[in-house]
Amino acid sequence: MQQVPLPNTSLTGSKLILGCMGLGGGWAHDTVLTKEHEKQAREFLDAGLELGANFYDHANIYGRGRAEEVFGRILKEKPSLRDHLILQSKVGIRWGDDPPGAPHRFDYSRQHLLEATEQILKRLGTDHLEILLLHRPDPLWDPLEVAEAFALLKAQGKVRYFGVSNQNRFQMEYLQSFLPDPLVANQLQLSLLHSGFVEHGISFNQHAQHYPDGWEGTMEYCRMHKVVLQSWSPLDRGVLTEPVADQPAHVQATSALVHKLAKTYDTTPEAIQLAWLLKHPAGIQPVLGTSRPDRLRACAKALEVSLTRDDWYALFAAARGATMP
Ligand SMILES: NC(=O)c1ccc[n+]([C@@H]2O[C@H](COP(=O)([O-])OP(=O)(O)OC[C@H]3O[C@@H](n4cnc5c(N)ncnc54)[C@H](OP(=O)(O)O)[C@@H]3O)[C@@H](O)[C@H]2O)c1
Repeated sequence: MQQVPLPNTSLTGSKLILGCMGLGGGWAHDTVLTKEHEKQAREFLDAGLELGANFYDHANIYGRGRAEEVFGRILKEKPSLRDHLILQSKVGIRWGDDPPGAPHRFDYSRQHLLEATEQILKRLGTDHLEILLLHRPDPLWDPLEVAEAFALLKAQGKVRYFGVSNQNRFQMEYLQSFLPDPLVANQLQLSLLHSGFVEHGISFNQHAQHYPDGWEGTMEYCRMHKVVLQSWSPLDRGVLTEPVADQPAHVQATSALVHKLAKTYDTTPEAIQLAWLLKHPAGIQPVLGTSRPDRLRACAKALEVSLTRDDWYALFAAARGATMP
């Protein structure tokens, strides 16, 4: 798999990032990790490594911590592997039962960032993360506290680089003004069916019907400051690959075009959807969500596909349900 240097770091990572949200048995509170969960994680990691993927995305909430825990168990079986991996995780979301009686909320307090990161390291069985992201913006955040937590984690060697997720340009710019080091990534929902990052640029000064809120300059800010855009849900959770009944007309039309192009390019529907993101000059790194080895292989074919401009625009027009303005 293609390896790319990660700007503002000394890291080189696989172009496709493997998301670990599907590991650890889902979101239920009382699930207990079993041999089956370990087998799933082992097969996932083996398939990823076979494809050359060394970049893995976690969050402390995935499987309520079990995704990191089961991944850590597999890492323990292959200790020499750790040095070849880029491990990224996220903090800042707290479940309603943490502690019992508390509401579901976001928390960028210094104390939470430090404690949650410590727990991540423990579950993964590692002494450091390559990258830590702030998961969702906490309206009550004090950027000085975030800066202090980042400085401490870096000084202790527990985190090498920091980034954000689900933040707009202004939130990033504000946070960055308190930090000595550049933010290295922003993980956002980017896909054919969540194409606000493109739509925003072409709909400016046009009729408002397609103009997406909240995107003002976010993609441009990231490009200008070499903050890697990571795309979560790049396959729209499979809805274009294996169409579900009763989808709106534009989703059905996009799915039909994805399948037609897969035949034309002699590739998979997954590869066509990812190739649409990869063609964008922002250098987007998709974070794959499947935990199935066969689907990982179908996704990896994206790196062999170079869509023509016409096909890129045809997919975009189908997904937005309208031709260009
Ligand atoms: N920063 C954030 O706020 C945020 C939010 C969500 C996710 N993420 C990260 O982004 C990663 C990807 O997100 P995602 O899981 O929503 O991405 P996705 O690739 O769009 O969707 C993958 C999910 O769809 C299912 N699926 C069903 N049919 C599929 C098909 N034909 N091809 C591929 N998947 C199919 C997969 O199940 P199977 O496993 O059975 O294939 C999996 O549960 C996550 O693992 C996580 O690391 C971040």
